[in-house]
Amino acid sequence: MTFCKISLKPLNKTSKYEGYNNLPFKNLFQSLKVHPKLGFTRKDFFIESTVKSRGMSISGLQQKLSLKLNHKKELVITDTDGEYILKPSPEAFPNASENEHCAMLTSRLFNVEAAPCGLICFSDNEPAYITKRFDRHGGIKIHQEDLAQGFGMESEKKYSQSYEAAGKLVHKMTNGKAAVVFDFFRRVVHAFVTGNDDMHLKNLSLQKLPGNTGLYYDRMTQHYDCLFTQAFDHISRSDVLALDLLAEEKDDVYTGYDFKLLGEKLGLREKLISNFIHDIIQKETALVDLINHSFMPDCMKTKAVSIVEQRMKALALGF
Ligand SMILES: Nc1ncnc2c1ncn2[C@@H]1O[C@H](COP(=O)(O)OP(=O)(O)O)[C@@H](O)[C@H]1O
Ligand SMILES: [Mg+2]
Repeated sequence: MTFCKISLKPLNKTSKYEGYNNLPFKNLFQSLKVHPKLGFTRKDFFIESTVKSRGMSISGLQQKLSLKLNHKKELVITDTDGEYILKPSPEAFPNASENEHCAMLTSRLFNVEAAPCGLICFSDNEPAYITKRFDRHGGIKIHQEDLAQGFGMESEKKYSQSYEAAGKLVHKMTNGKAAVVFDFFRRVVHAFVTGNDDMHLKNLSLQKLPGNTGLYYDRMTQHYDCLFTQAFDHISRSDVLALDLLAEEKDDVYTGYDFKLLGEKLGLREKLISNFIHDIIQKETALVDLINHSFMPDCMKTKAVSIVEQRMKALALGF
């Protein structure tokens, strides 16, 4: 069976474009008239993005480009008013796009809203990860800040805090909104279960709703930059998580007990945490199915599944 390059659900026969179901396609691109293939090659991308990467508003380590839809409904490279971000697999990390696409989709199982995303092909058929920008609303820039900025830190210090301290910062920046702190907590559990060891302070951001001119933030942005990092053949970092879970940490072997403690330290109700963790443990099969329906190569799928299984076992301890 083949699956949709956006939703990872089985393809149905009525789809307009090969590889895509109509509804998810429309959700991501707002129209079924958009060309499902890019008009340039992967090589063109790397030439273009090297030139454009200086002074770009979307920073980060991986090469990426802003795209927008032109009047012919083609996705084209743009310097201004970008609506999408294109992030192909870097040379050193084959299949990172397929990996990120699947990892992003798993966040919904954790009740974390992820940025709409999918896979789209270059004109030479190489797939690339594409995501819809969440920092604009009707052409207006939405105010947001990542947690490194929130701490008043340089980007290089993005690994220097614990999730406990980061969660407390979320509490402070939202004037104590428990729902947002809980969203943050769910993202930490998601990173743990999926083996994402790169959810550092620049990969967590808060946003103000349009019209909010006050000091405090309303919510976390849609989630971004999720990867099964531990499923790559060669991984540069071997930590379980990007940040220590707790401010005063003894070791980095985590179980459900540590997450319980984190929830407590962040002032979240015990029942809320235990209901959530129980729910996540029930979703192991759904998570594994999503991995198996993804476009990752088999060896990467096997690694991702094995990490999820180990982490679910650890999470269940204490619940
Ligand atoms: N869908 C999106 N909409 C708006 N901004 C985004 C989106 N995805 C990522 N970003 C911004 O772009 C930055 C880089 O993207 P990210 O996916 O984190 O790439 P990298 O792997 O290079 O860190 C992020 O830190 C975030 O600020
Ligand atoms: Mg990032």
